[in-house]
Amino acid sequence: MDHSSNLSAERPTFLTHLECSGTGSRYEPDRLHSLSDTGHPLLARYDLEALAGQVTKETLAGRPPDMWRYREFLPVRSTASIVSLGEVMTPIVSMPAAATRVGSRSLLVKDESRLPTASFKARGLCVAVSMAKELGVTRAALATNGNAGAALAAYGRRAGMEVYVFCPADTPEVSVREIAMQGAKVYRVNGLINDCGRIVAGGVDEAAWFDFSTLREPYRIEGKKTMGLELAEQLNWSLPDVIFYPTGGGTGIIGMWKAFNELEAMGWIDRKPRMVAVQAEGCAPIVKAYHEGADHAELWPDASTVAAGIRVPAAIGDFLILRAVRESEGFAIAVSDEEIAAAQADAAKQDGLLTSPEGAATLAAFEAARADGLISKDDRVLLFNCGHGLKYPMPPSNRAIDHTGPIDFAEITSGH
Ligand SMILES: Cc1ncc(COP(=O)(O)O)c(C=O)c1O
Repeated sequence: MDHSSNLSAERPTFLTHLECSGTGSRYEPDRLHSLSDTGHPLLARYDLEALAGQVTKETLAGRPPDMWRYREFLPVRSTASIVSLGEVMTPIVSMPAAATRVGSRSLLVKDESRLPTASFKARGLCVAVSMAKELGVTRAALATNGNAGAALAAYGRRAGMEVYVFCPADTPEVSVREIAMQGAKVYRVNGLINDCGRIVAGGVDEAAWFDFSTLREPYRIEGKKTMGLELAEQLNWSLPDVIFYPTGGGTGIIGMWKAFNELEAMGWIDRKPRMVAVQAEGCAPIVKAYHEGADHAELWPDASTVAAGIRVPAAIGDFLILRAVRESEGFAIAVSDEEIAAAQADAAKQDGLLTSPEGAATLAAFEAARADGLISKDDRVLLFNCGHGLKYPMPPSNRAIDHTGPIDFAEITSGH
């Protein structure tokens, strides 16, 4: 197999237009777009019939194992536009200790921390930057809780763009330094991600940059869609019963739901999973709206949680997240920071997985949902760990030893 063929072969593309997620009105493909005229996110639409006529499951199986094997499902027209850092297919790992502890037949996690810049944000920004390169963008900006900023910095700089990133002042320190190290101008803002978003939106005219913030351009979710395509293919086109997803701005859950709908329309899958939106108790606008039966979420006041990536007090795609949850007969659930910390420690200590706090939130939610009878013992459950635990603060470890004195081995091995 030619390991670079996904990045070197020209392949047919099937993007037909963009569609306003609020009104359904059509927008031209192959142009730079932000929100629709009515202020809604735009969604990429494809000729799925033609796509299904061109590509088979066998075609995909014969390609190198990276995100660009799904090229025909993506909007990028020219191979030369692709900006790639090696977007590997991420492993699905079992969590036997957690399954036993909670009393479930099995538990899987899709570990997105293996991607470039150590988070799933690589998928979205890889496609968004490739499209922006194709369409002539040279100056990029975005509001972030950390991981998206790192991915935009890496891909944007590789594409030769100027990159400007705005994040809350208490964004995990490693992420801020990572963004700076990757060549972006990064600013700490004394507010939350929506305050950062206002700065970025304000600079579109005055600073002449393109706004890559969540759902403000149509192509990031196309990259996120590959999580769903990849998952389906890895599980031999038989999806899990339930997916737990850490939900902030919602690009992942919206993108995956879009993937499953496209695969269903092509006749490639016949059953879709229940989608569960997981949030933190200190910032749970989607969970509140879900329980109230609302189509949109209200701004969450004084948002706070250790899981930085899901601290999103207002999401422009709230109605799309809620739609995915309801259409799939899933649910939305909030967990406390204490439950997140406990789940993170359990996953690390018992299953060998150092997850992000956001990933740990899905484990905590899984445990809570089992206890509440929202899912059954036999449900095939898959969690998403979207980022690497090494990017976040960890509890200190202060044990030390004086190598010049006697070594007390009984003390060392006690209480383990
Ligand atoms: C590690 C991690 N998990 C989950 C999320 C939530 O992302 P979204 O809801 O936009 O898919 C983020 C966003 O920053 C993140 O960094």
